[in-house]
Amino acid sequence: MIHHFLFIVLFVVILFHPLCTSLSLPPPSSTHQIRYRGTCSYDGTYFSGWQVQRNTEKRTVAGTIESTITSTLNLTTPIILTGSSRTDTNVHAKMQLLHFDLPSDIVLDSSSLMEIINCGLPSDINLLTLDSTHLKFHSIRSSTSKTYIYRLHVSPFQLPHTRLYRTHIYYNLDIDLFNKTLSLFKGTHDFQGFASQVEQKKKVKKNFTTIRNIYNIELADEGGGDYKIIFNLEGALYKMVRNIVGSCLDVGRGKVDFEEVKRILEEGRGRIENESKPAEGRGLCLEEVFWEE
Ligand SMILES: *[C@@H]1O[C@H](CO)[C@@H](O)[C@H](O)[C@H]1NC(C)=O
Ligand SMILES: *[C@@H]1O[C@H](CO)[C@@H](O)[C@H](O)[C@H]1NC(C)=O
Ligand SMILES: *[C@@H]1O[C@H](CO)[C@@H](O)[C@H](O)[C@H]1NC(C)=O
Ligand SMILES: *[C@@H]1O[C@H](CO)[C@@H](O)[C@H](O)[C@H]1NC(C)=O
Repeated sequence: MIHHFLFIVLFVVILFHPLCTSLSLPPPSSTHQIRYRGTCSYDGTYFSGWQVQRNTEKRTVAGTIESTITSTLNLTTPIILTGSSRTDTNVHAKMQLLHFDLPSDIVLDSSSLMEIINCGLPSDINLLTLDSTHLKFHSIRSSTSKTYIYRLHVSPFQLPHTRLYRTHIYYNLDIDLFNKTLSLFKGTHDFQGFASQVEQKKKVKKNFTTIRNIYNIELADEGGGDYKIIFNLEGALYKMVRNIVGSCLDVGRGKVDFEEVKRILEEGRGRIENESKPAEGRGLCLEEVFWEE
C-alpha cells in the first residue's frame, strides 16, 4: 500500500517537475546555437584586412579567427564570424567587436573557451573578452559608436620602429589648414563622395544610405612631429575615414582646394577619389567599439 502511494507521488513528481518537463522536450538538435560576443585586438600589418575573402589564399583577421575556432574546438561545421568593422589591409584594432555562434553541446565556459582559442591564435591576434549572449546581439547592429584614431608623423624622417603604426608625412603640411579641413566633416553628412565604389553599388541595389554621423573629430599634437586624429562616429562607410584623412592631407599640402572638398561634402555628389587617394592603412587603428546589450 505504502509502495503504491510512493509510486504515485514519484509519478506525479516526474510528470510535473520542471526538470522533467524540459527533459520531455526533443533533445537539442545540432542546429541549436549559442551566440558568443567577443572583443579582439590585432596588428593589421600582415593581414589583408578583416573580411574573409573566400576562394583566395589571403590571410585575413576574421578568416584566421574562424579557422582557429573551428580547428581548436574540433567542430565539424566551420563557424562564421561577424565583426563590427571591416578594417582594411594594414589597419590595426586595439578593440574590435565580434560575434559567432557555436553548437550548444560545447560544454566549456566562456573563459576556458577564450583560453583555448587564444592558445591557437597567432601572436598578432588576441581575444580580449568572450561571453555568451542572446541571439539578437549582432556586432554590427548592436554597436552604437566607434572610435578610430589615425596617427601621423610629420617630419622629413621617421623612426623605423614606428613606421607600421604611423603614416609618414615627409612633405610640408599646413597643420592649421589640415585641422580646419578635418573639422568640416563633423556632424551628419552624406558621405557618398568619401565612400568606396563598393558602397556606391550597394546604394543602387538596396535600401542603403550613405548618410553618416561623425560625433567628433579632434586633431591632437603629441609632440615631436607626432599627431593623432581621433574620430568618434556612429559608423563609417568602407574607406570613409581614410578618404577623409587623405583629402584633408591633400588640402594641407596644397594639392586640392579646401572649397573643392567642402563642395563634395555639401553636395553629397562627386568623388574625392578622383583627386585624393585614401590615406594609408597603417596609420589607422580601430580603438574602441561601444554597444548596447
Ligand atoms: C580536439 O581533438 C584533439 C585530438 O583528438 C583533442 O586533443 C582536443 O582535446 C580536442 N579539443 C576539444 C576542445 O575538444
Ligand atoms: C527603406 O528605408 C526607409 C527608411 O529607413 C524605410 O522606411 C523603408 O521601409 C525601407 N524600405 C525597404 C524596402 O526596406
Ligand atoms: C585643431 O583645431 C581645434 C579647434 O578648432 C583646436 O582645439 C585644436 O587644438 C587644433 N589642433 C591642432 C593640432 O592644432
Ligand atoms: C571620376 O573619374 C571617373 C573615371 O576616371 C569618371 O568617370 C568620373 O566622371 C569622375 N567623377 C568626377 C566627379 O569627376
